[in-house]
Amino acid sequence: MIDLRSDTVTLPTPAMREAIARAELGDDVYGEDPTVNRLEAMAAAMMGKEAALLVASGTMGNLAAILTHCGRGTRAIVGAESHTNLYEAGGASALGGVVLTPIRNQDNGELSLDELRRELAAPEDDHFARAGLVVIENTHNRCGGAPVAISHMTEVADLAHRKSLPVHLDGARIFNAALALEATPAEIAAPADTVSFCLSKGLACPIGSLLCGSREFVARARRTRKVLGGGMRQAGIIAAAGIVALTTMVDRLAEDHSHARALAQGLAIIAGINVRPVARRTNMVFFDVDGGAAAARRFEAAMRERGVLVAARDPGSFRAVTHYGISRADIDRAVAMAADAAAETFAS
Ligand SMILES: Cc1ncc(COP(=O)(O)O)c(C=O)c1O
Repeated sequence: MIDLRSDTVTLPTPAMREAIARAELGDDVYGEDPTVNRLEAMAAAMMGKEAALLVASGTMGNLAAILTHCGRGTRAIVGAESHTNLYEAGGASALGGVVLTPIRNQDNGELSLDELRRELAAPEDDHFARAGLVVIENTHNRCGGAPVAISHMTEVADLAHRKSLPVHLDGARIFNAALALEATPAEIAAPADTVSFCLSKGLACPIGSLLCGSREFVARARRTRKVLGGGMRQAGIIAAAGIVALTTMVDRLAEDHSHARALAQGLAIIAGINVRPVARRTNMVFFDVDGGAAAARRFEAAMRERGVLVAARDPGSFRAVTHYGISRADIDRAVAMAADAAAETFAS
């Protein structure tokens, strides 16, 4: 199978398996796992923050960030299309009593600054939940994997900080953003007070994300992580793969971006397939098929029969993601199979 559903399907590299087997371990809840401590120090340095915390997943990183920043009954202002708003099971509300207030995302992943200004201008009045946090996402998953300009992030942060509100960056794919924006991860994270990023997407680790921020914030987030049941013991097993990822898997993301461009170009010339223009800058390609939801179901099934998996999104639309498990030959084959599947879909 050529699995283009997500970069989360990546399997650990041989070097990761080797590092996992040899990892020096201790009890991380006591702060005694040397491998975790090393990974956290590396992550903090790469993100330009004072400290970092290993968590089980991107969802846990964002949740721990929101619960640490926000009190019960406060609002976290999030993009309507953001992962936090749509795909994190309402955890901030369910577990933290935090109200998620969605505002519009532009097609390029940026937040609507007009809506943000309006939200931030809400008067101090007992009728309104107090704002506690602004969350941004980079790269922006649902907006075609778009890298969001640092200048926009700075504008968002300036507006939030003027109201003494912190900003959290969901940087699940911050290394993809860094590559596309020709910036360092630290430059991308700089406008935000805290940032989470994932090891288990394009970097190919089996498990893990890091939440980074000030030393004081991370100390509080460590407690939140414990509350969430995320205090892990010999977590160096996870961290060992993370160290391999941060030292050997970041630069190769350029290959995924070039594969995504090739895939977008190949799909764009197939009749009945419409590649969304915002795609092509990172490792994601979003496309629609003519004929609506029924045609999309036929197309997806025809692709599956031909050994290619793509993720169905909204009715009639798909996401394909390139990653460590996908070669240039896989891309050529996926395009050929898409042409074949489209011919079958639109013939019927
Ligand atoms: C932008 C973004 N944030 C957070 C997450 C959550 O990561 P996890 O699946 O590790 O919980 C994802 C997962 O795909 C994501 O795309």
